[in-house]
Amino acid sequence: MTENHTLTVRDNRTGEEFELPITDGTVRASDFGQIGKTEDEPGLALYDPGFTNTASTRSAVTFIDGDKGILEYRGYPIEQLAEKSTFLEVAYLLIHGELPTREQHDQWVHEITFHTFVHENLKSQLQGFRYDAHPMGMLLSSVGALSTFYPEARNITDPDIRHDQIVRLIAKMPTLGAWSFRHAQGKPYVYPDNDLTYTENFLSMLFKMSEQKYNPDPRLAKALEVLFILHADHEQNCSTNAVRSVGSSQVDPYSAVSAGVAALYGPLHGGANEAVLKMLKRIGSKDKVPAFIDGVKNGDEKLMGFGHRVYKNFDPRATIIKKAVDDVFEVTGVNPLLEIAQELERIALEDDYFISRKLYPNVDFYSGLIYEALQFPPEMFTVLFAIPRTAGWLAQWLELVDDKEQKIARPKQIYTGDRRLDFVSAEERWK
Ligand code: ACO
Repeated sequence: MTENHTLTVRDNRTGEEFELPITDGTVRASDFGQIGKTEDEPGLALYDPGFTNTASTRSAVTFIDGDKGILEYRGYPIEQLAEKSTFLEVAYLLIHGELPTREQHDQWVHEITFHTFVHENLKSQLQGFRYDAHPMGMLLSSVGALSTFYPEARNITDPDIRHDQIVRLIAKMPTLGAWSFRHAQGKPYVYPDNDLTYTENFLSMLFKMSEQKYNPDPRLAKALEVLFILHADHEQNCSTNAVRSVGSSQVDPYSAVSAGVAALYGPLHGGANEAVLKMLKRIGSKDKVPAFIDGVKNGDEKLMGFGHRVYKNFDPRATIIKKAVDDVFEVTGVNPLLEIAQELERIALEDDYFISRKLYPNVDFYSGLIYEALQFPPEMFTVLFAIPRTAGWLAQWLELVDDKEQKIARPKQIYTGDRRLDFVSAEERWK
């Protein structure tokens, strides 16, 4: 341990000094446990609600530098992956840690394509939901239910068994997501078409009606591919942390991933693009933008789709999405809300309020516009997030399972309740 790679902590209650090692820019929370520890008192603990400054794991999956606007999967910049790769190749990269050879790629795509069907009993389960069931609720319960169809998945130490479940999950998520969408519309569920690519097949399961074969517009399939790549992973976010936390109990991956879907369902995580759409509709026209911006600056409103906890320069995903917007609108016609969004962005990026607070468009600023142009109702937006994020969740789950340092997730608490009360029986209390 070199002198300048340690932290000296002086406990002013006792005058005692402790030298704690610094590794990779972190100090081990457990090292603080020796400070102030006596027979009667536990040592110091760290208090960090929301893990705002606590690393929970080592990870080699995704790198983010928020100040510089960098996002990399396994070291590859998101811009290059979005431009040159496919979602399934990116999923392979996330799961296996490196890009596939041609044989590995073909085998992977074949496996995923031929596991897209789900058991008919699962279809019956979906059909049992009320007509107005939220598709995320349907998705999270059906992903959890998959564990009952593949009980061998509980054996998480066998690499071959793990591989089978990873293939099944990535393959079946679009089927479950599309069927949740069809359910709300009272339309028959469409079976997967194994001749199509991953995103083409998803579009077919969403929109096919009586035609023999559904041929999605390749520009829309490509735009969806790009959106899927952008959403495939984002290091230790809320849903990934949920997958890791539940997975730390060594439960099967279906149950762990259903926890991820549940976390994503929450409005603070997966729901911001829907809020952007509502905001744009409320503003109504381009000429109302300056007044809206004034309202934001006065603290009456929030400019939804702006700002990010991590990205303080620009969100690289937002830049890529802006390009996809043009491609989609070429097919669907321009969404009139785009004009309002562009005007908001133009004014905000020149305004000192937003510049000084480092507020830039995030991934959600334009994604809602694309999804609406593709005819998705807002409830489906989060499903469109969950499908590609499954690849990231599984890559992180695999890393967790193989990480010898990981233990069952079990945080400490600062107890604030009563102690040693004397129980008074109901008979006495209700006299
Ligand atoms: N509109 C107006 N002002 C904002 C906005 C915004 N969208 N975001 C932040 N600010 C202001 C805050 O009021 C604060 O101002 P102050 O210093 O005068 O008090 C300052 O900027 C710093 O904001 P914080 O809330 O401290 O930033 P934080 O990192 O905690 O929040 C967040 C990030 C939650 C994303 C925030 O920017 C926000 O609410 N944005 C709108 C919602 C949104 O688009 N969420 C999607 C994020 S991307 C994703 O989750 C996939």
